[in-house]
Amino acid sequence: SGNFTFTMIKPGAVNNEYIGPILAKITDAGFRIAAMKMIKLRTAQAEVFYGIHKERPFFRSLVEFMTSGPIVVAVLEKENAVQSYRELIGSTNPEEAKSGTIRKLFAESVSKNAVHGSDSVENAANEALFFFSRSEIFTESGEV
Ligand code: CMP
Repeated sequence: SGNFTFTMIKPGAVNNEYIGPILAKITDAGFRIAAMKMIKLRTAQAEVFYGIHKERPFFRSLVEFMTSGPIVVAVLEKENAVQSYRELIGSTNPEEAKSGTIRKLFAESVSKNAVHGSDSVENAANEALFFFSRSEIFTESGEV
């Protein structure tokens, strides 16, 4: 269930010129790019986006890292997109990620883990609409 998910290519991966290789993995896995842009998060935006983690010990460093340089935000369309994309990116900690996954290939550490992927259908909609208006999201299913 769920025809789209939301992703961010994080600062470390953008810095290392991994945007192209990561997008190739995404489209090779059958995802359509329904929306995409390159932006730099402001501190207040990152704090809201990651608000669910605000009591975690790593919250401050997470916000600092995510605002340290440009990121790519995108909406990806595919049947069962949330679960399918989580399988493609692999475990949060790249040391635990399966071979061939985006995090195994491109992540440096659990905090510099190359990409974000929504963890539920509900969060996919919330996160997509945090960065894009509905008129900027071109899904074939018409969802979002
Ligand atoms: P992401 O999917 O973007 O959602 C929250 C992020 O917090 C996560 O990816 C990790 O990059 C980061 N994170 C999760 N656990 C830790 C941790 N133990 N130490 C540092 N960062 C973490």
